Formats: sequence, structure tokens, C-alpha cells
Amino acid sequence: MSLHARIPADHEAPRRASRHVALSGVYADLAGQAAKAARPLARGRVTSAIGLSIEVSGLELGIGEAVRIIGDHGPIMAEVVALGDGFASCMPVSDLRGVRAGNPVLSTGAPLQVPVGRGLLGRVVNALGQPMDDGPPLTDVILTSTDGTPPRAMDRERITEPMPLGVRAIDTLVPAGRGQRMGIFAGSGVGKSSLLSMIVRGTEAPVSVLALVGERGREVREFIEGDLGPEGMKRSVVVVATSDEPSLVRLRAAFTATRIAEWFRDQGQDVILCMDSVTRVAMAQREVGLAAGEPPATRGYPPSVFGLMPRLLERAGMAKTGSITALYTVLVDGDDLNDPIADNVRSILDGHIVLSRKLATQGHFPAIDVLESISRVNKAVTTPEQRADATLLRQLLAARRDAKDLIDIGAYVKGSNPQVDRALEQSFEIDAFLKQDMEDLTPAVSAWAELHRIAESG
Ligand SMILES: Nc1ncnc2c1ncn2[C@@H]1O[C@H](COP(=O)(O)OP(=O)(O)OP(=O)(O)O)[C@@H](O)[C@H]1O
Ligand SMILES: [Mg+2]
Repeated sequence: MSLHARIPADHEAPRRASRHVALSGVYADLAGQAAKAARPLARGRVTSAIGLSIEVSGLELGIGEAVRIIGDHGPIMAEVVALGDGFASCMPVSDLRGVRAGNPVLSTGAPLQVPVGRGLLGRVVNALGQPMDDGPPLTDVILTSTDGTPPRAMDRERITEPMPLGVRAIDTLVPAGRGQRMGIFAGSGVGKSSLLSMIVRGTEAPVSVLALVGERGREVREFIEGDLGPEGMKRSVVVVATSDEPSLVRLRAAFTATRIAEWFRDQGQDVILCMDSVTRVAMAQREVGLAAGEPPATRGYPPSVFGLMPRLLERAGMAKTGSITALYTVLVDGDDLNDPIADNVRSILDGHIVLSRKLATQGHFPAIDVLESISRVNKAVTTPEQRADATLLRQLLAARRDAKDLIDIGAYVKGSNPQVDRALEQSFEIDAFLKQDMEDLTPAVSAWAELHRIAESG
């Protein structure tokens, strides 16, 4: 009953990308069962509501526990985020309107639960796993908490196989491995989301889970219907929390998507998890932390943000069976690659793809700055021959970059550096190889063959 009852409250979230929230009979049944299994309900009351945070007294609550606030406009679900002397600070998963001091609060004795399972394939759901598309009710799912545990270090298989992503510049020069976690770093509007949509359509992984966190509502439909299309959607699950939703909901969306990916991985599948963007997840945690009374530390981010990142990102990767290859977009503030979140995320992940605004303004898409991007598993997932071709191309790109100033002012004298000469001769075909239309998805074998041809033809 308790989990069931939070659905209408969630309906009220304004300007949601959903047109209709279908609640499945199965979901409701499972919600009912989960609620029954929880310990008996106790009753407390709202003592204050300041900013995003509601103080509740009269209940013995634990961090992460879901509570139901009986507001004047109906029940509202919230989660305990901090504990004080005789009170708990809770953050709501929907609008706070209608909540007043003295409102009754029921504990559920369990964290928020989300559905996972095969029934989610092809579906668009919100941060709580409820359908946001016009599709039929969810079937073939079970309810679980969003708190998975990362595979233990010694239980993780090593990364030894490539995971082709369908983008030539990545598959050859920054190759991803099955179970690798990579960041896509760029300033705003440089092409992060577009690159992710290419990857979701071009990857050879059988299942993709996409978390769209803090995006503009307009972009969500564009992404799903335009970029992903029915083909991409068939093998995908999309979890959406737009920028107008409460911070806790945006935060939860990241964990829900990760939990869904974990379920498929635990079935032995190779899953791609794409999160756009992890910066907005960090911002959501900043709002949650500050509202709960944490002190701001680095650039206004409270310490809990830096604790949250590894907890979230470490859950992807290889397990005993199956894998989650994860791609997280990172919005770098003012194109500063050393901003605290970018720095923290880069230190946790096994590789980074850097997008350059300079390339984007030249119309070079995807705007991957190959020389700034690295894959830490490169050696494990490529053959020596492949690496030789890739290294040669990197050398040519570096030679061209270093001589660029001289070339631009016409001061470069042909013949003074053989590698620069070659880079200039092959400039056109190198750029043609690195540029790629959104619709053009190249299998990795073709990309390697094309790279080899460039390497041989110099
Ligand atoms: N592969 C591509 N081919 C052509 N144009 C592209 C490509 N990738 C990106 N663009 C252009 O760049 C614009 C911004 O791309 P996108 O929305 O993917 O950037 P973003 O980094 O996700 O932005 P934000 O930070 O606002 O989320 C697009 O509207 C499009 O015009
Ligand atoms: Mg984007």
C-alpha cells in the first residue's frame, strides 16, 4: 500500500517529459508485497520544511529509508538523507506543495524500490522505474532497492576483450574494453549527447541502459525519437529525470539506471550503460548535501559528492559473469578539464574521451581530441599490429598539431620534417577517417581496415 500510494504524488511533477504514466498491475502488486514485507508502519510528524529538506520527528529512521508524508494534497514519498538529535532530514521525490508542520509521516522500513527485469527493454521510465511512455503496463519485472554493491575487486574478471562502439575514432584510437568505464569530457554544446546516441546505436552490446539526468525536457523526446529511433530503442532502457525534477529524483535516476544495468549483467549479458551527465548527478548530490546541512567544500561541493562518485561509478565494470561497459558524460565548467568533478571522475574511470570546442566550431564531428583522450585498457584489447597503426596515426596528428602555427602563417618549409610532410599529404584522408556522420555507424573491423590502409599508404 505504501509504495503504491506514492504514484499519484509523482504524477503531479510539472512539465515532465511524460505524457502519460502507466502503472502496471504487476508493479502495483509487487509494490504491495514489498510494503507488506517491510516492518510495521510507525507514525511521526513533520516539524519543519525549509528549502528542499523536511524535518521529521517521532520516528526511528535510518539513512536511505523511504517515508510517506501525508500532505494536504495527498501522500508524498521522501527519503531520509541525514539524522539529527531527535529528528530526521528527508528529501522528497516530488513537489512539496501541500506539506505543513504537523502532517503525519509513516515509515516504510525499507529504501525506495525500483523494478528491474527484461520487461524494461524498449521502455522509457522515470527515476522510480515507472513507465513514462504510452506503452503497456510493465511485465516481467521484480522490485528491488537501488543500492547494488560493486563487485569485489578479486571477483572482477580482467578486461581483455574490445567493446566496439561504432565510432571509428574511438574504436581504433581510444578503444573501449568490455567492462571498461569511460568518461566523455566536454564543455556545453560540444556534442556529448550526440556522441552518446551514436554509441548507443552503433555498439555491438546487446543491451543498453541510458540515464538522462538533468537534461532539458525538450531534449528527451528528441533523443529517444530522433537520435535513438525504434531500432536503438528495442534493445535499450531509458531512465529519465529532467532538470525540473527535485534533486533527489535526479540523483535516484543515476542509481536506478545503474541497478537496471546490474540486473542485466547478473544474467550474464554485456551491457552498455550511458549516463548523461554525471556532472548533473554530482550537482543533485550537492543540493541534497547542502540542504541536509553539510558544509560546502571544493567549489561549493560538499564532501558527500566525492564519496558518492566512486560508490556510483565503481558499480559498473566487469563482474564474475557479464559486464557493464559504462560511458559517463562530464560537463567541464568553462572547458576547464581540472574542475573538481571532472578531476574526481577522471581519477575513478579507466579512460577518457575529450571533446574539443575548437574542432566542433570547425564542424569536425564527433569533436574528439584524440591526442588528449586515452583508454587505459588499450593494450589489453588490441593486437600489436593494430596498435602500430594507431600509434602512427597519433604521431601524424601530433606532428600536424605541433607544426600548426608555422603552417598557418605559411612559414613551414616542406621537407623540414618528414612526419609533418606526411601528415599534410594525408591530412584529408585522416580527417575523413576521424569525422563521422551521426547516421554513419562503422563496424570496428571496417574502422581498423581503413586505419591500416591510411597507415600503409603514406
Ligand atoms: N556528429 C555530429 N554531427 C553533426 N553535428 C553535431 C554532431 N554532434 C554534435 N553536433 C552539433 O552540436 C550540437 C550540440 O550537440 P550536443 O547536444 O550533443 O552537445 P552536448 O555537449 O550534449 O551539449 P549540452 O552540454 O548542452 O548537453 C548539436 O545540436 C549539433 O548541431
Ligand atoms: Mg547534452
